[in-house]
Parts: sequence; structure tokens; C-alpha cells
Amino acid sequence: MTPYALSYALHVLAALIWVGGMFFAWMILRPAAVKTLEAPTRLQLWAEVFQRFFRWVWLAVLILPVSGMGMLHMRFSGFETAPKYVHVMMGLYIVMLALFLRIQALQLPELRRAIEAQQWPAGGAVLGKIRRLVGINLIIGLVVVALAALRPTF
Ligand code: HEM
Repeated sequence: MTPYALSYALHVLAALIWVGGMFFAWMILRPAAVKTLEAPTRLQLWAEVFQRFFRWVWLAVLILPVSGMGMLHMRFSGFETAPKYVHVMMGLYIVMLALFLRIQALQLPELRRAIEAQQWPAGGAVLGKIRRLVGINLIIGLVVVALAALRPTF
């Protein structure tokens, strides 16, 4: 196993966990929870889901740039000579990271406070904001994966 192959495997696995997790949350769990659960239970479920999923997102957030920069140097011998799609990938990673940090640092604590105070409408409003940001991050993540696979020559 070469160092490049190891970096590549870690990189793809991290992207899979992050983007796949968001896909499952948005497309499968969200509509199922809306259909079957009342607001209090649904909000508590999401607080638990985010807490558990975000541990894995933190891992992905660390592995992606480390393995990505490793591949960048091993395959393209540096940032300047790397193709444009890799530059776009890095830019979109920063956007995804910023949105994730926003949810983690601002909105998740807000959701927990609303649940503790049993303010269900307020909790629902925060959950709506989180849903929007996760939706945006999901779209960006899917675009990045498609871009990485298509390797367009701009
Ligand atoms: C600082 C952030 C990142 C850097 C430096 C980076 C760098 C790279 C590099 C150098 C490659 C190899 C390209 C090639 O072989 O042509 C690659 C592949 C890939 N990247 Fe990234 N990347 C970053 C973030 C991301 C993110 C956020 C995702 C998805 C969420 C992602 C998904 C992928 C995938 C799926 C591949 C494999 C594509 C394939 O070979 O089919 N990367 N990345």
C-alpha cells in the first residue's frame, strides 16, 4: 500500500461519511420523523442525532484537508500545479466547514436550550435553520464529489 493510496482511501471514506450522513439525515430521517413524531420527541431525537453525527463530521473535517493536501503534494507536486477542480474542492471545503461550525457553535446549543426550556416552537424554528444549512452543505458536498469524480478541465 502506497502513502498515496492510503491518503486517497481516507479522503474518500471521510467524504462518504460526511456527505452520506447528510444525505441520510435530509432525505430519509427528516421526512420519516416529521411523519411519525410529535414536536417534543422529534426535537429531542434531532439533538441526539446531531450530537452523535457531528463527532464523525469532526473526524471527516480533519481528515479531508490532511489527506487532500497529502495527495496534492504527492500527485501534483504542490498547490500551483494542481488542476483547477482541486482548487475549487478546497474552496468549497472551506464553505462547508464554515456552515458546519455555525451549526455546531451557534445553532445546536440554541436547540438544546429550547429543549431544556421546553419551548417547542422556538426549538422548531432553530431546527428549521439547521435543516436549511445542512441542505446547503449537502448540495455543496454532492457537487464536490461529482467534481472530484468528473475532473473537469476548466
Ligand atoms: C482542503 C480540502 C481538500 C483538498 C486539499 C482535497 C484534495 C483532493 C485531491 C488532491 C484529490 C485527488 C484528485 C485526483 O486524483 O485527480 C481529491 C480527490 C477527492 N476528493 Fe478532495 N480535497 C479536499 C476536500 C474534499 C471534500 C470536502 C470532499 C467531499 C466532501 C472531497 C471529495 C473528494 C473525492 C470523492 C475525491 C476522489 C475523486 C476520484 O478520484 O474519483 N474532497 N481531493
